[in-house]
Amino acid sequence: MPSALVTGGAVRLGRAIALHLARKGYGVALHYHRSDEKARAVLAEIESLGVRARGYPADFTDLSETVKLAGQAVRDFPDLELLVNSAANFIPQDIENTETASLTDTMNINLLSPYLLMRDYKRWVNRGMVVNILDERVLKNIPTFAAYSVAKVGLDHLTRLAAIEWGERVRVNAIAPGLILPPPGRGDEFLRREAEKVPLRTHGSVDDICRALDYLLASPFVTGETLFIDGGGSKA
Ligand SMILES: NC(=O)c1ccc[n+]([C@@H]2O[C@H](COP(=O)([O-])OP(=O)(O)OC[C@H]3O[C@@H](n4cnc5c(N)ncnc54)[C@H](OP(=O)(O)O)[C@@H]3O)[C@@H](O)[C@H]2O)c1
Repeated sequence: MPSALVTGGAVRLGRAIALHLARKGYGVALHYHRSDEKARAVLAEIESLGVRARGYPADFTDLSETVKLAGQAVRDFPDLELLVNSAANFIPQDIENTETASLTDTMNINLLSPYLLMRDYKRWVNRGMVVNILDERVLKNIPTFAAYSVAKVGLDHLTRLAAIEWGERVRVNAIAPGLILPPPGRGDEFLRREAEKVPLRTHGSVDDICRALDYLLASPFVTGETLFIDGGGSKA
């Protein structure tokens, strides 16, 4: 089986994706930032499944760390066939209240690091698929997380540009989750309340995201596509 590089793989959605891929037999190059202990636990769980795993700490606010990560992962996993860009920050600032530092951090983490990882994946791997994790907000005009939304819209556009540029060599797709997990520190009550605003009147789960990933992996005629896994939320 081939290997995958998953960013933000120690917690939440990224963790679920990394473990899902490992259960399918993928070796996993697991990127994380601050969640060292959680990354160690995920790496142990992956290795217990009998597949290769290695952790890579990198702070994407520093783009030199992003580029270093790409080089290390490609060197350690010569059988890479998948890049999943899941790491993100999510800062609740509208445009007027955006701090300069959070604007540059958000662009570096959510747009420029995925851009550089995609570039280096094309240069050095040149096969398989990239999957960018977006957000249903790319179709909505909600300014509450302004820099985050702008970065995700940029990554959505980049997904289509790369799909066109790279053609049959590297497929490039995206998954845009809606209401899946509550923000850190919030629980089921948050999900229940927010679900009232979703057309399907419920929330999704990490399994819904993994099913979308399975579809993309199993669909060689699909590229440049963004799958909205959001209960219809992006259309409301
Ligand atoms: N949760 C949802 O319902 C939902 C909905 C829509 C879209 N999404 C998208 O799905 C993806 C995962 O979201 P999530 O909610 O599961 O995760 P999350 O709680 O937003 O976790 C973010 C991840 O990004 C990493 N990260 C944060 N700052 C970083 C930095 N400076 N450098 C490198 N990595 C950094 C974190 O690493 P450490 O923990 O190691 O520090 C963590 O793994 C994101 O792209 C998000 O936009 C999620």
